[in-house]
Amino acid sequence: MNNSLSSPRLYCFVGGSSGRWTVLSQTTIAGESLSNVQRIDYVQGHFNQTIPDGWALHGTTSNSRYSTQSEKSQMAAIQAPLDRAECRFGALIPIRKNAAWWELTQDARRAIFEETSKHIAIGMRYLPGVARRLHHCRDMGWIEPFDFLTFFDFAEDQQSAFDDMAGLLRATEEWTYVDREVDLRLVRA
Ligand code: HEM
Repeated sequence: MNNSLSSPRLYCFVGGSSGRWTVLSQTTIAGESLSNVQRIDYVQGHFNQTIPDGWALHGTTSNSRYSTQSEKSQMAAIQAPLDRAECRFGALIPIRKNAAWWELTQDARRAIFEETSKHIAIGMRYLPGVARRLHHCRDMGWIEPFDFLTFFDFAEDQQSAFDDMAGLLRATEEWTYVDREVDLRLVRA
């Protein structure tokens, strides 16, 4: 594929033996695992090289689907960007949801996502310590193994808070629809 045709919203996470982020742990939470890698990085655009013993996962940032205007404004007021100097720790969590989730209508998904599961309310408590970027993978024009690539960074002293948040989210009704999830914890120099 010609990179010049790629959207600036397209990202590729590459797992292998090189990259800015060293993998501290790689845990399969649900479904099929991903092959273990030592390092990861992300690039903007399409990555069309072969990675021996590794993988390349593509996703694109997008418009929000579930946030209300008020939730969006509340988050915008407190959230921080990725790549703050002190945020040397990170997480890449690719996630797939099952067919039952995708068969629901938008309003039914929103009800489970927020009214029942409180995804935004839970997540917002961890801002601005945790910075995040959500990538969607379903409508790329080719098949990706996950529906979302979720990426976060935070300072060393936020690691246990991040674990607590992930635990709260995984106990929700929303997560009963997650059928594949791999949690990679990361550190960079
Ligand atoms: C800083 C904490 C977090 C905040 C503030 C947050 C906030 C959000 C928001 C606002 C959305 C909806 C975007 C939209 O309107 O379409 C979203 C979606 C999502 N988040 Fe989080 N989140 C956080 C942590 C997490 C964590 C730790 C995970 C994974 C373990 C995660 C996984 C996802 C996924 C998979 C979606 C897409 C859901 C879907 O469209 O079906 N989030 N998050």
